[in-house]
Amino acid sequence: MIIAPAPVVILISGRGSNLQAILDETRAGRLPIEIRAVISNNPGAGGLRHARTAGVPTEVIDHRAYAERAHFDTALLQAIDRHAPRLVILAGFMRILGEAFIRHYAGRLLNIHPSLLPAFKGLDTHARALAADSRQHGASVHFVTNDLDGGPVIVQAAVPVRPNDSADTLAARVLREEHRILPLAIRWCVEGRLSIRDGQVLLDGEVRPEQGLVTVPDQRTGAAK
Ligand code: GRF
Repeated sequence: MIIAPAPVVILISGRGSNLQAILDETRAGRLPIEIRAVISNNPGAGGLRHARTAGVPTEVIDHRAYAERAHFDTALLQAIDRHAPRLVILAGFMRILGEAFIRHYAGRLLNIHPSLLPAFKGLDTHARALAADSRQHGASVHFVTNDLDGGPVIVQAAVPVRPNDSADTLAARVLREEHRILPLAIRWCVEGRLSIRDGQVLLDGEVRPEQGLVTVPDQRTGAAK
């Protein structure tokens, strides 16, 4: 059975390495999506070049041109909806989105966050993981809700924290996992394999090991919790 690729829109703010991972998987035929547009709030985002090189249409909606956050959200929403996406993917999109925007895309808005949520929501996750003496760190893909970085987690990947790690070396190790799990979560999503029960994401109707759910060692005692 041939299934039509799912239309998606990808939002970025910067370098775009996660976008590149999605482009690579799509081109390799492992991701049944059609990237209708890449939209950035930052005209200087390096990722825009990746999109253009791959022949994907790009748009810039510069948040600095809007006096109010709600007006930026509305402009972004309108730009996205012109492409009628099945899924909207935040791939390093660094603006906080308002309630109405998030409600509009409920259940079809994904984000990649560089920590093992619920640990280290927000910014500077790698430095904070080091400062907290974490033994492991990682990345999570989750559905976006109005609870910032708190929506239901789809998949996680853990990496060890090494004694000599700097925030940069740790970030690089985490980023390799991001490039693996973001395309994976997108695939599960467009294949219709995900559901949510009691705030928990099920894959094929259950919580499965390949979602990579990990026990985070207690940061003080090292005991799993
Ligand atoms: C990634 O670490 C992502 O988890 C975070 O921002 C970074 C974006 O990197 N939200 P890139 O632009 O995909 O290279």
